[in-house]
Amino acid sequence: MVDDAEALAALATSTFVATYGAYNRPEDTDKHVSNSFGVAQQTAEIQSIEMSTIVVVQDTKLVAYAQLTPKEPPACFCHSAPIHLYRFYSIRETHGSGLAQQLMREVKRAAQKRQYEHLWLTVWEENPRAISFYKKSGFADVGEIEFVLGNDRQRDRMLVAPVSDA
Ligand SMILES: CC(C)(COP(=O)(O)OP(=O)(O)OC[C@H]1O[C@@H](n2cnc3c(N)ncnc32)[C@H](O)[C@@H]1OP(=O)(O)O)[C@@H](O)C(=O)NCCC(=O)NCCS
Repeated sequence: MVDDAEALAALATSTFVATYGAYNRPEDTDKHVSNSFGVAQQTAEIQSIEMSTIVVVQDTKLVAYAQLTPKEPPACFCHSAPIHLYRFYSIRETHGSGLAQQLMREVKRAAQKRQYEHLWLTVWEENPRAISFYKKSGFADVGEIEFVLGNDRQRDRMLVAPVSDA
């Protein structure tokens, strides 16, 4: 799996830029990308005992990934046994194909296996496709939270879903 770090870093970078690059200042996107993605960062994430990284491979190419981490949600959060769905990305060619739904089922199974009961995530309020996808995957909107992209303060929606419908 550590062998996937380079491909994962490339996928994480390209999907992030494809999703947000056109809607943000290049310097903010660049800062986020260089702080978050790279072979060293993704190697550490894959090796982390706390983080679960799930990748989808098609014809030897990584096309989607999701990461779960036990980061604590904000204090106002009142759902039992929560785990953070930290990243969930697929390449554009797969959008609408059902692949993301399969990946979400895997995410929920992985969370259940680790005895978690709820998934929580944050998503940019200006990402309507992802919000639509999460809602159809059983997530409910439970509030807003600040996200800083580079030097830009933005508003994210915070969403939560039970893992039990996996
Ligand atoms: C989010 C993501 C994983 C969802 O996968 P997907 O294959 O695109 O999801 P689906 O096509 O099954 O569902 C998307 C839904 O949004 C709808 N949609 C598309 N554009 C929309 C828009 N502008 N506004 C509202 N809904 C929209 C689609 O019609 C579809 O709903 P439907 O199945 O009822 O028709 C994928 O789009 C992705 O990787 N996006 C880039 C990365 C990203 O945004 N990740 C989330 C970060 S928090």
